[in-house]
Amino acid sequence: MIRKAVLPVAGWGTRFLPATKAMPKEMFPIIDKPVIQFIVEELLEAGVENIIFVTGRHKRPIEHHFDINTDLEKHLEEVGKKEVLENIREISHMINPIYLRQKEQLGLGHAVLTAEPAVGNEPFLVSLGDIILEKGKEVIEGMMEAHYRFGKSVIALHEVDEREVNKYGIARVKEIEEGVYIVEDLVEKPSPEEAPSNLAIVGRYVFTPRIFDKLKETKPDKGGEIQLTDAMRLLLEEEVIYAYRVDGRVYDTGNPVDYLKTVFEFALRREDVREELLTYIQEILSKQTQLIDKP
Ligand code: UTP
Repeated sequence: MIRKAVLPVAGWGTRFLPATKAMPKEMFPIIDKPVIQFIVEELLEAGVENIIFVTGRHKRPIEHHFDINTDLEKHLEEVGKKEVLENIREISHMINPIYLRQKEQLGLGHAVLTAEPAVGNEPFLVSLGDIILEKGKEVIEGMMEAHYRFGKSVIALHEVDEREVNKYGIARVKEIEEGVYIVEDLVEKPSPEEAPSNLAIVGRYVFTPRIFDKLKETKPDKGGEIQLTDAMRLLLEEEVIYAYRVDGRVYDTGNPVDYLKTVFEFALRREDVREELLTYIQEILSKQTQLIDKP
């Protein structure tokens, strides 16, 4: 059984500085819900309740978000904002999390290794704290089911534009059934010419506990970070790794442009925001066109 999910949220978020100096990017709002809550909800919907956050010293707001805030509850009660109050209470009781400190930001692989004492000797999930999946529940369920069938690690892959493979970890795979693969190799940020496929690693993983041994063997890269992909390549030498194709949109919220695109897409799906936003976009677009048309 997979009971535990590790959420590494200790990174510096340098692509978002100065916003991330004091505020975790995982707490950035998609309209009015922080990114990390989407990821927690996806896990809960798929039946995973034990959430292990790997945090850093600047990540306290995440702990506060999932904690009870009695002053706020009292205030909302006093002003009669019942619906918001219910929502706030729900979030406080959503999970009973474990928080572990990654004392130095030595990479994603190192963050996952930090969770070993809380995970122990059992298979577990890893979900990155800045990637939202449109079909998150289905993906987690599909990956867990593949793990139960094959008994091995399963990583999520997503088809990306062939010209953009150099932004991702790319897998060489053999498809064994529709959307399920055996991973043959993993290449970090290949050029489009060298890329073995356009299937990119997407931030959801099921690991056998053997990954911890491999993380301990993994040497730091040029930047001094222990990369999860390097440990997965070591794991590949002794265990089969399976892959599960993610269908539906993948929203990366870890950089400003993709974050803004995510906010827009979610806003356009919200009935209370959609109309006003569309009118506004049309207005500014027509102003832009007028500016371009003027010599
Ligand atoms: P990123 O590659 O997005 O790194 O990490 P980052 O530090 O968060 O952001 P940038 O690149 O500087 O802008 C992927 C995931 O791994 C976590 C991050 O919090 C993020 O969820 N991570 C990364 C850690 O937990 N610890 C680390 O040392 C590095």
